[in-house]
Amino acid sequence: MPSSYNLPRLSREIILDTPYEKLSLQVAQAVAEEIRQKPNCNLGLPTGRTPIRCYELLSQWSQNKSLDWSQVKCFALDDYIDASEEISFSTYLQTHLYQAAGVCPDSQFNPRFADDYDGLIASHGGLDLTIIGIGRNGHIAFNEPGTQEASWTHCVWLAQSTIKDNFSQESALAIPKVAVTMGIQTIMNSKRLILIANGESKQAILHQALTGPISMEVPASILQKHPNLTVLADFPWK
Ligand code: GLP
Repeated sequence: MPSSYNLPRLSREIILDTPYEKLSLQVAQAVAEEIRQKPNCNLGLPTGRTPIRCYELLSQWSQNKSLDWSQVKCFALDDYIDASEEISFSTYLQTHLYQAAGVCPDSQFNPRFADDYDGLIASHGGLDLTIIGIGRNGHIAFNEPGTQEASWTHCVWLAQSTIKDNFSQESALAIPKVAVTMGIQTIMNSKRLILIANGESKQAILHQALTGPISMEVPASILQKHPNLTVLADFPWK
């Protein structure tokens, strides 16, 4: 297991006030560039509302054959454990990206189906580029406030605020309470990270995460220590 963060050339960029369409295009271009430069790259991929347009663009480019995913390995950041298949993140990624991009089943990885997800990632050479969102409580993937900094892939009880943000209480489907997520170390070991934040509900927490003290009460604040981080948000600082 790697014990220290990768140390590529120091590169940190925070790009604010970028309209959602442009932000999505920039993230999709970064993914496409990674695939063109390293056709067998390993990607860490999020779910949620924020990356949907980015995935649409990547799907379009793949369908018109300008992007080849045949050697790319895709690692989902997280997934629910006690949820029906239709709301699982496997289904989400299948629907929003894998089918259109033609990612073969052997190249789709999900922590729900791996005994040792970190070992699996390491055996493929580690994550090259990981896209992450941020929860309103500062979570990254499902690393909720209070997660250990020294965490690898693990199971979690979801925070009440996360359940509230992700599900309407009127949902006909059972609402999950448990998830499995890449740990803080798993994410920090990715050679490059791109954090995307969309919508004013993320404004205060993103500001706190990037300018406040590094504390596991705001798990995203750990990203201040990553040497190759790009942040894209569609709002300015308040
Ligand atoms: C979810 C996911 C995260 C995601 C975040 C933001 O709970 N576990 O990986 O980045 O919350 O989601 P959204 O983009 O819908 O705001």
